[in-house]
Amino acid sequence: MPPGGARLLRDPRWAWYLRRVVDPIDELIRSHGPERVVAAIRPLLSEFRVDRIESVLDLRLTAPTAVFENLHDPHNGAAALRSIEALGLQEAHVVEAAEPFSAAPAVTMGCEKWLTLHHYGSVAGAAQELRARGFSLFAMLPGAARSCADLDPETPAALVFGNEHAGLSDEAIGVCDDAVSLPIHGFTQSFNLSVSVALAMSQVAHRRRQHLGQSGDLDSEERARLRARWYAMGVRGARAVVERHVSEETRP
Ligand SMILES: C[S@@+](CC[C@H](N)C(=O)[O-])C[C@H]1O[C@@H](n2cnc3c(N)ncnc32)[C@H](O)[C@@H]1O
Repeated sequence: MPPGGARLLRDPRWAWYLRRVVDPIDELIRSHGPERVVAAIRPLLSEFRVDRIESVLDLRLTAPTAVFENLHDPHNGAAALRSIEALGLQEAHVVEAAEPFSAAPAVTMGCEKWLTLHHYGSVAGAAQELRARGFSLFAMLPGAARSCADLDPETPAALVFGNEHAGLSDEAIGVCDDAVSLPIHGFTQSFNLSVSVALAMSQVAHRRRQHLGQSGDLDSEERARLRARWYAMGVRGARAVVERHVSEETRP
């Protein structure tokens, strides 16, 4: 952490940007390993908190996931993240080719702290990383003949959503494997961005859970990392707590 980093992280004007560059909790977990962080902090948490964290971990899905291309309105971005978190989806991917992604704190109500956000400079970069992880990409395109409700739930799906005004770029549509839509039965031509995220991700996540026969899909490594992260977020001075625990453990 650079000098003054902790103070800047407490300043909402900087926190959003800085958490992407230096995340003190990630740094703590990297230095000491998730098991040590959990062992150090566990005695400071209530039974209720620990049980709540375990039940949310049980329900967490890494697939499906959502990709946002050049979102503009921080209220829309925030509402989209809030729906994603509430649906039990762990990740969101933001393409910032035109402008940085931002989410209005009054709308997120802090939900972004539970999520893993990935940032990309181009939609091609996002596609490459997601494909390498086994995802297929689907352009969310109003009017596309295929409905997102019909996606094969066996395939980990990344649904790509476009800008509030311009929709998806041709480049984004081009890098996707197919285009899908939310059928519209009225005169309106498209849903509001955040509404389309909630509707589509809810349908696709529901079918994925049915297909898996379980509510969550975290592997043991990611589950341990998130548990350590969520424990550390629940106490003040987590670094000092962990370092004290480690020095007691290693004292001869
Ligand atoms: C407000 S819409 C943008 C509308 C834009 N004028 C267009 O033609 O795409 C913002 C984003 O929400 C998603 N969206 C909205 N309605 C949708 C629908 N019926 N089917 C699929 N995606 C939709 C799309 O990803 C779209 O780019």
